Amino acid sequence: MIQLKQPLVIALDGHSSCGKSSFAKAIASELGYLYIDSGAMYRAVTWYAMQNGLITNGKVDVSSLITKLSSIDIDFRLNSESLKYETFLNEENIEGPIRSLEVSRNVSEISTIKEVRERLVALQQKMGEKKNIVMDGRDIGTVVFPKADIKIFMTASLEVRTQRRFDELKAKGIAASAKEVCENLARRDYIDQNREESPLAKADDAIILDNSDMTPHQQMEWFFKIIEKYQS
Ligand code: DC
Repeated sequence: MIQLKQPLVIALDGHSSCGKSSFAKAIASELGYLYIDSGAMYRAVTWYAMQNGLITNGKVDVSSLITKLSSIDIDFRLNSESLKYETFLNEENIEGPIRSLEVSRNVSEISTIKEVRERLVALQQKMGEKKNIVMDGRDIGTVVFPKADIKIFMTASLEVRTQRRFDELKAKGIAASAKEVCENLARRDYIDQNREESPLAKADDAIILDNSDMTPHQQMEWFFKIIEKYQS
């Protein structure tokens, strides 16, 4: 474990399926920090909307969802067997369903809703009050923690990201063609970057990491250098 001189907030933003969460988890485990997957929170609200009949053919009943936002409670709990954190919505473990392609299809629409973002950002900021946190998402360095100590903006080519996401779904036994996966990623990139509310953007002071041709080990080596430089 690396010894840090002071507690940090580390913000990791970037495109869908470029390995942000694996990298963020690895960093958190190296530092003994809490890892928060903010995307899981948008997925949880999406799952809630789907379960409550608030999405019809991709169209969200925004006003009904807004009235129900205060009854949506999201938290992360450690699974004592897998030692992985899992997402809970109103006491129910929804870690499995929120990773489905159907949730992926609807989540961008949900994440364009201002009131949804306000509620989730407030929750995320509360989680970061004590520092010692790595959070990944789309607006962490720009909106959630604009004063984060270290900001990383991650990306990889669409081709590489499609292959990674395809392999991930296949490993989970979720059926999807490479074409479907690629289209979903390209559509999400477009919505994430062009929405009015907190679009995906690199913070001015974020460091870019393009990991198209990097192994997880090389990424950690890269991170150690960043930390060394930050502490010197
Ligand atoms: O990281 P992910 O692919 O699980 O995120 C799912 C969606 O949630 C993504 O399409 C954009 C949205 N999102 C967001 O708008 N802001 C965040 N901080 C995290 C995710």
